[in-house]
Amino acid sequence: MEKTLSSVIIKKEWDIVGARQAGRKIAIDLGFGSVDQARITTAISELARNIYLYAKHGEITFEKVYGVRKVGIKIIASDRGPGIREISSVMKDGYSTSGGLGAGLPGVKRLMDEFDIQSDDHGTKVTVIKWARQ
Ligand SMILES: Nc1ncnc2c1ncn2[C@@H]1O[C@H](COP(=O)(O)OP(=O)(O)O)[C@@H](O)[C@H]1O
Ligand SMILES: [Mg+2]
Repeated sequence: MEKTLSSVIIKKEWDIVGARQAGRKIAIDLGFGSVDQARITTAISELARNIYLYAKHGEITFEKVYGVRKVGIKIIASDRGPGIREISSVMKDGYSTSGGLGAGLPGVKRLMDEFDIQSDDHGTKVTVIKWARQ
């Protein structure tokens, strides 16, 4: 079960900040502590920056997800940009080029509990979940 909470359009660099702030607010509402809030906002920054840099336009959507005795935040970063050709090499540490704090997509995977990426030449969709124990 899941419930869409909000979406942030990414088209200007400043929208990365807006997505971070929206994600932090949701993380607080869902009861995440400050360490997890930092993990979540770092992941959002990385995903939003990738949209801005490589796809130009896209969207970050936030959902509340329900597990067994737990709730979580699901973050979907989607765009209709050029896509990623070699996902397997991109997911290896050391590939990241932009020097962001979160160490690129492998960093996003480490920061979150679940990670999925789908990409083809019509665009990219990265879906991540962080669970909060209740
Ligand atoms: N949304 C996207 N659309 C197209 N290409 C992307 C996207 N996200 C990432 N990429 C490609 O994957 C590479 C690795 O991304 P990432 O791990 O975030 O590292 P970095 O952004 O530091 O290079 C990028 O350099 C870029 O070529
Ligand atoms: Mg990046």
